[in-house]
Amino acid sequence: MHTDPHQGLHSERGALKGEHPGRAADPVIKVVDLAWLEFGKPDLDRTETFARDFGFTTVERTPDLLRLRGALPGTDCLVVRRDTASRFTGPVFQAAAAGDLRRLAEATGGEVAELDGGGRYVSARTPSGLEVRVVYGAPEHAGLALQPPLTWNSGARAGRVNATQRPPREPARVERLGHVVLSTTVFLRDLDWFLKHLGLIVSDFLYLDGQRDRGPTMAFIRCDRGSEPADHHTLAMHLGPSTGYVHSAYQVADLDALAAGGEYLKERGYRRSWGIGRHIQGSQIFDYWRDPDRLLLEHFTDGDRFDASVEPGWAEMSASGLAQWGPPATADFLGSSPSPALLRDAIAALRADNEIDLTRLLGLARAMRP
Ligand SMILES: [Fe+2]
Repeated sequence: MHTDPHQGLHSERGALKGEHPGRAADPVIKVVDLAWLEFGKPDLDRTETFARDFGFTTVERTPDLLRLRGALPGTDCLVVRRDTASRFTGPVFQAAAAGDLRRLAEATGGEVAELDGGGRYVSARTPSGLEVRVVYGAPEHAGLALQPPLTWNSGARAGRVNATQRPPREPARVERLGHVVLSTTVFLRDLDWFLKHLGLIVSDFLYLDGQRDRGPTMAFIRCDRGSEPADHHTLAMHLGPSTGYVHSAYQVADLDALAAGGEYLKERGYRRSWGIGRHIQGSQIFDYWRDPDRLLLEHFTDGDRFDASVEPGWAEMSASGLAQWGPPATADFLGSSPSPALLRDAIAALRADNEIDLTRLLGLARAMRP
């Protein structure tokens, strides 16, 4: 029988007996957050223009480097280097203590190295070959002015009297990096790698219709900060015919900031991928956009925060299960439009030694039908 460890707090049901526990018994370290993401981009001028329209603040710009931040105190959100093509270079996580870097280096056969600009890091590779770095002591910026959340009149309570509501149509100011979502052909191996090496813990698992006995195919994963709440997911990963970046998400002030910021992006000619809606896993109000290189980025607000006591929820993976309300998930967002690239990836994944077989591929295709 199903158990309900948290009374419908995030997903309706918990694990069945013998299913993946969603955390490692004795992790090497426990990272506290994502620090930043690194990308290569062919055109830094175009990248910076989009970044400002999306709501980032430029920290540094040289002919070969663009560093971007959010308004909350902390490290950079994005580090973009000039490259021949648009590519994701990898996530960078934040260690809790300096000594964690040495422990991680020993466990992964790496070494502790100096970061340009201060701090130290360890670089490691997941089973799928993704480069993951963990930093400690990287420079942190002081906070900037935030977009003030609006005062709502609601029910019998009128917090706003003799004053109008006029949210400006301006870029939704990015407050911070929230999460990154990755696709991998070796989902269970990559998942276990993150849980064991970075101490991440699963908030929600998704499984394919009729294939629950084969294990989950997606996990929403948070940082274990003990009694201190963390974002519902800092990393999300799903099984797919290719390995790499899916999207990354950035927190903004509130629904009006998100919606007015979306209007601003639309007016500037950018393409919305999917939104506005409210997710189920994580509960965020979301809006997804394509940058000029078709990279997918998300504005979000009002996400769940869990401490380490919450056990994983389990639910079936489906396009309609991605949102509580909002327009139907688009083919663009789901990546489900048949294309030569998708077909090529699918054939290559079927032939390679990984977790993709025909049953998995058909299950994924069915789940991600708009
Ligand atoms: Fe997201």
